[in-house]
Amino acid sequence: MIKTIEWTDAGVVMIDQKRLPNEEVYPCFSHYREIAGAIKDMTVRGAPAIGVAAAMGIALGAKAFEQEDHEVFANEFEQICREFAATRPTAVNLFWAIDQMKLAFEQAFRDRMSVAETKKRLVERALEIHRADIAANEQMGKYGAPLLPDSGVVLTHCNAGALATAGYGTALGVIRAAKEIGKNIEVYADETRPFLQGARLTCWELAKDNIGVTLITDNMSGHFMKMGRIKAVIVGADRIASNGDVANKIGTYMVAVLAKENNIPFYVAAPVSTLDPKLSSGEQIPIEDRASTEITEINGRRVAPVDIAVANPAFDVTPNKYVTAIITERGVAYPPYTESLKQFFD
Ligand code: MRU
Repeated sequence: MIKTIEWTDAGVVMIDQKRLPNEEVYPCFSHYREIAGAIKDMTVRGAPAIGVAAAMGIALGAKAFEQEDHEVFANEFEQICREFAATRPTAVNLFWAIDQMKLAFEQAFRDRMSVAETKKRLVERALEIHRADIAANEQMGKYGAPLLPDSGVVLTHCNAGALATAGYGTALGVIRAAKEIGKNIEVYADETRPFLQGARLTCWELAKDNIGVTLITDNMSGHFMKMGRIKAVIVGADRIASNGDVANKIGTYMVAVLAKENNIPFYVAAPVSTLDPKLSSGEQIPIEDRASTEITEINGRRVAPVDIAVANPAFDVTPNKYVTAIITERGVAYPPYTESLKQFFD
């Protein structure tokens, strides 16, 4: 299994996703600020992986605290959490993970733990979050695999695989599980401009697992749907509002509309930590804007005139009417989502 992120005595080891597929390198991050930086610059990306990285980063920051004073420790801990909260705005798993670490901290305080014991407890909680994410993905695979066709092509957008999670993947986890139960599935991967998560990451990890994958550019999916080539679409999510509106990588909305037009099921696979029960609709989901150079440059080489206006929203929101089902580790939700998702809220 691909090791996206691992806790070690020396620090947090993460595969550098910016350098894939050309180089497979695993730098070790020994200061929490380096991990916050790695989330920002997308060395680690994908909603659940960002959450796990933040949990481990917070644990690492707390572990480095060298005094015995509880109040100073609590202030330092808050500051670390704030820095992680400021890294990327859209994936709610980040904020979920920060909340989990805060709850662990508060519980340790209530249990009158020493600073040393609290630090240990925070590391344990981060490791639990890591393990639970893999287990959730495997469970999503079990629920989702029967929904996919017995044979044919499944389209995915961006990377919702092992690299985007602690392991196994959400959307790609469902595809892996479908293969494991003998379905004869191959994947079409949208390249996913501008960061190329589809071309660089989805193709890399599927090829590594010997799952047949064909790379297409983002503007080809409608053509292949109309030709009858695509039997189902499955994607991950960065945040799902309580009405089932789904924020995911920019371009997902376009794929979902095309799927509906062509009578192709459009599935979303995401852990319950991606649900945001506080939001009544997807319109309230904050959308991250990223640097214009992601679009105007390829490998550091300019591909557009200088001084032109550029828009680079990293995510879009797919209205719930385009979503056939939402696959979680607690079961599958169908429309109307305002009712069906309720059972999954804590
Ligand atoms: O900008 P990214 O690469 O972090 O965006 C990732 C996505 O949009 C994924 O589809 C989503 O996080 C689900 S990952 C299981």
